[in-house]
Parts: sequence; C-alpha cells; structure tokens
Amino acid sequence: MRRMPSDVKSLIQEGAELTDRALEALIPGTDVVPASIHGAMRHSTFAGGKRLRPVLAIQAAATIAGEVPKGIERLGAALEMLHTYSLIHDDLPALDNDDLRRGKPTCHKAFGEAIAILAGDALQTRAFEVLAGLDAPPAAVVKIIGLIANAVGTVDGMIGGQVLDLESEHAKPTPELVAAIHRAKTGALIRVSVVAGGVYGGATADDVTRLDLFGRKAGLAFQIVDDVLDMTVDSAHLGKTAGKDQATEKATWPAVFGIEQSRRDAASLMHEALAALEPYGSRADGLKSVARYLVERKN
Ligand code: IPE
Ligand code: IPE
Ligand code: MG
Ligand code: MG
Ligand code: MG
Repeated sequence: MRRMPSDVKSLIQEGAELTDRALEALIPGTDVVPASIHGAMRHSTFAGGKRLRPVLAIQAAATIAGEVPKGIERLGAALEMLHTYSLIHDDLPALDNDDLRRGKPTCHKAFGEAIAILAGDALQTRAFEVLAGLDAPPAAVVKIIGLIANAVGTVDGMIGGQVLDLESEHAKPTPELVAAIHRAKTGALIRVSVVAGGVYGGATADDVTRLDLFGRKAGLAFQIVDDVLDMTVDSAHLGKTAGKDQATEKATWPAVFGIEQSRRDAASLMHEALAALEPYGSRADGLKSVARYLVERKN
C-alpha cells in the first residue's frame, strides 16, 4: 500500500509512472522474437499517452480501500494495453485512417498495416493474460475479467461503439445516436476502469453501483471533450490530426449541439458524476480531482 499525492498533476504523474513501469515489464522487449511486433506494441504504448484509464482505476481503488492497493498497476497496465489496441485499430486506413497518434506516426505508418493489426490483437490478448494473473482474490479477478471483456465487446462496448461510429459517418446525427456511440466507443472503457479499480480495492455491490454511475457520466463527458478538442486545438498540441471529425462528417457531440453547448454538457455531466461520489467524502478526493481534469484537459 502506498500514499498518493494530493495535487492532481503529481497524482496523475505518479499514476502514469507506476503504469509505465508495469507496462515496461509486461510487454515483451524487441530482443524477444518476433521482434517486429514487440517493436510495434511498444511504439504505440510508449508514445506518450496520458494514462488516464490506469489513473482512474488507481484512484477508484484508493477511494474504496482507503489507500492505493499493492499490484493495482498491473490492472492499470492491462487497461492501457486495451486502450492502446483500440487506438492502433482506430487509426487504421479501414477505420479513421490517421497518420499521427500521441505525437508520433501511427502504428501502421511505422510498421505497416499487417503488423499494426496484429500488434492491436496482441495487446488485447496480453492484457487478458495480465488480468488473469492479478494479485487479488480469485472471485475479484474473475469479476474484473468479465467486466472488462464486456466493456471492450460489441454490446454497448468499445467495439460496438466503433461500429456505430463508422456506420454513422456522413449521416445527420441525432442526440440519441451520438449518445449511444460515445457511451460505447469511449465511455465503456472509462467506466470499467473505475469499476474494475473499485473491485480490486474490495468494492461492495453498492460501491459498484456508485462507481458505475460516476464512470458512465465521466466517460461520456470525456468523449464530448475529445470531440470539442478535435475542433478547437491544433494537431501539434493534440498529438493527433485536428479537424478530422468534421472532415469525415463524424457523428460528434458538437455536430449535434454546437461547441458551446457541448462544453456546458461536459461540465454538467461531470457535476453529476462527482455527486455520485459524495458518500465517500474526502476519500474520493483523488478520484474527483482526476475526473475534473478529464473535462479541463487541453489535449
Ligand atoms: C483518445 O483517448 C481516444 C479516445 C477514446 C477519445 P486519450 O485522450 O485518453 O488518449 P491518450 O491515451 O492520452 O493518447
Ligand atoms: C476513438 O474515438 C475511440 C476509440 C479508440 C475506441 P476517436 O476516433 O474520436 O478517437 P481519436 O480522436 O482518433 O483519438
Ligand atoms: Mg474513431
Ligand atoms: Mg480516431
Ligand atoms: Mg476524437
């Protein structure tokens, strides 16, 4: 168990460093055959992501357990591998066709499409292998694996959301459609990061209900902000191609509601998210400050 710093910058930085050390140990090196795929997995994983899903898991666990539980960084690393896999595939020519990710050439630009597809697949299977070895009671491990597999899947999960996102390009989006896309493609992994962190920290059924509600609202707010940043920040600061959503006529929150309303919606969703954590008092301060950062971030 470890103490965590109270200001949000150092809290995120420490969580990110903890995650990076775990990722470094868990992803095979380029000295391991076949070197090309390990190079590709590492290229995308260590390109400079914010590590927000691991940090949310760490802070959710700390909210429940009262301190950061030992071994949580491996749960965080698995979540980050799944997220990175989703980004590698999101950038492929057949999906969003992007050249820039985390300030570097996308995986398929650097390693070719075949290796990029396989690197995404490999990060996904490695993530579940790591989850199966978590240092938690077997019932908690099984629950975490089931929840995460579901959140990455097709029914209201990341892959289902990506399908909806792609099939909705060039269509006039409705509020219901864009909410369904965002809840699934991005919201599901954010929500499960919080819930799985809580379960690792020993959450009861009531805790899971509260964390799920918090994660649901925060996850939607997160993708609304991603949409706003795509329209308002340049590629150099974003580390990915700006203005892409409008160019490809994506079903985004600003496309339906405009930028100003999107900003207000993100702020009020976050307000509702934070309210779900009230029963935890100051124990949830870390989780709350990370949540505020999700909507205040500039990249
Ligand atoms: C970007 O996620 C992709 C979305 C799901 C919107 P992040 O903004 O967390 O990206 P990284 O991990 O910091 O690169
Ligand atoms: C990505 O949504 C969601 C996933 C990767 C699952 P976006 O397509 O909006 O993400 P960015 O803007 O390319 O990071
Ligand atoms: Mg996309
Ligand atoms: Mg994209
Ligand atoms: Mg986006």
